Amino acid sequence: MLFIANWKMKMNVTETLTLTQALVRQARQIPPDTEVIVCPSYLSLAAVSKSLKGSRLQLGAQDCFWEQSGAFTGEISPRDLREQGCQFVILGHSERRQHLGETDEQVHRKLEAALNAGLIPVLCVGEDYAERAGHQKDYVLIRQMQGALQGVALASDQRLVVAYEPVWAISTGGVGIVATPEEVLYASEVIRHTIIDLFGAAALGRNAQIIYGGSVNPANVAEFTALKTMQGVLVGAASLNPAEFVAVMQAANRSSKQ
Ligand code: PGA
Repeated sequence: MLFIANWKMKMNVTETLTLTQALVRQARQIPPDTEVIVCPSYLSLAAVSKSLKGSRLQLGAQDCFWEQSGAFTGEISPRDLREQGCQFVILGHSERRQHLGETDEQVHRKLEAALNAGLIPVLCVGEDYAERAGHQKDYVLIRQMQGALQGVALASDQRLVVAYEPVWAISTGGVGIVATPEEVLYASEVIRHTIIDLFGAAALGRNAQIIYGGSVNPANVAEFTALKTMQGVLVGAASLNPAEFVAVMQAANRSSKQ
């Protein structure tokens, strides 16, 4: 089971380090067979990487550029992220699509560059409220996945994580609409079939994993991780408190499918 913490732009470097150290101290309480990845802001990566050394926590970035080097002012190279100790990189998060106009084509180029640099992409897909209301969920998911993954070759030793993140269910802080397990199961089936279509059935589970993200907390996580298609969660707000993030992992583990 995969647990990915997306710390967004919520903390400065000092706060991020304090949280990381607290999480490392609580690592004994993390259930076995659990992969834990923390994704701090770029500025915190080097410091967090150092404090994760020797722990079972892994490092991820929240984005990367589509070239490894060159005249691209302000951008961050996937190769440099790898050098800083990142194993994972979140790509196509809805906040980037929304605030920075990131397109499927850009996400595609970033994803290829990430794989070439030896990073595991965590591709975020999901419909917004209007698309959901307009019954376009399937179409949006397939369009975003094909846009990002069409033409991508996944070697047998490469991994891809696809996160179903319905935009309307992100950062609701427990209020607003919450995604039901039925709805998440349905969307994950669409994602599953698209993965099979693009990479073949053998890739599922071995190379490609599906996770859920959107207001996940200790009280609701098990509803999602108990779904047969789900292999983890992407956690925003609830990962900012070490005890709460560990509680998310423990709750998921208690209801584990095995
Ligand atoms: P949330 O964030 O858990 O705060 O909803 C999830 C995400 O945006 O990845």
